[in-house]
Amino acid sequence: MRNIAIFYASSTGNTKEVAKQISKSLDGIKEYDLKVTGCEYMQDYENIILGISTWEAGKMQEDWEKVWEEFSHIDFKNKKVAIFGLGNQKKYKNNFLDAMGKIYFQLVKANAQVIGFTPTRGYEFEKSEAVIENCFVGLAVDIENDDNYLEKIEDWAKVLKNEFK
Ligand SMILES: Cc1cc2nc3c(=O)[nH]c(=O)nc-3n(C[C@H](O)[C@H](O)[C@H](O)COP(=O)(O)O)c2cc1C
Repeated sequence: MRNIAIFYASSTGNTKEVAKQISKSLDGIKEYDLKVTGCEYMQDYENIILGISTWEAGKMQEDWEKVWEEFSHIDFKNKKVAIFGLGNQKKYKNNFLDAMGKIYFQLVKANAQVIGFTPTRGYEFEKSEAVIENCFVGLAVDIENDDNYLEKIEDWAKVLKNEFK
């Protein structure tokens, strides 16, 4: 597996921690904090993993908002992209992982091949912009309410390992 990197932003460190776990599971791939580097290096990779948390009732994490203009000008043609989203299904059940959905729809507009969908089975929430036909458009991570999140990260990384060949 080659030419793969993670791009994420994180307010309290949760998304950063998950980025680290995913990197470890994929044999130590490069991680970029969007707050530090923006989207500058995204074009250099064929295989991309994006990490985002949802804040303030459905908004994108603030550093993602800051790079959104830059991000929305990138053409993802011939690139495979997987997304992981951080959120809290109990406290924000009407906006669970909305930010992951916003990223997904932009990627589709920008010609990306989005991979790594996961089933919503086992999660309890009312509404989410990150769901299409009983699947999340990426990996749904709820550190605050899900005791099995580390296992889910491991499993997802294995799927990506195959898909990103
Ligand atoms: C004020 C506040 C608003 C939040 N709003 C949402 C939300 O609308 N939807 C959601 O799924 N999670 C929401 N969350 C949960 C965060 O996404 C979650 O804590 C996440 O792990 C934070 O990741 P980060 O520290 O990497 O930014 C919110 C958390 C806080 C404290």
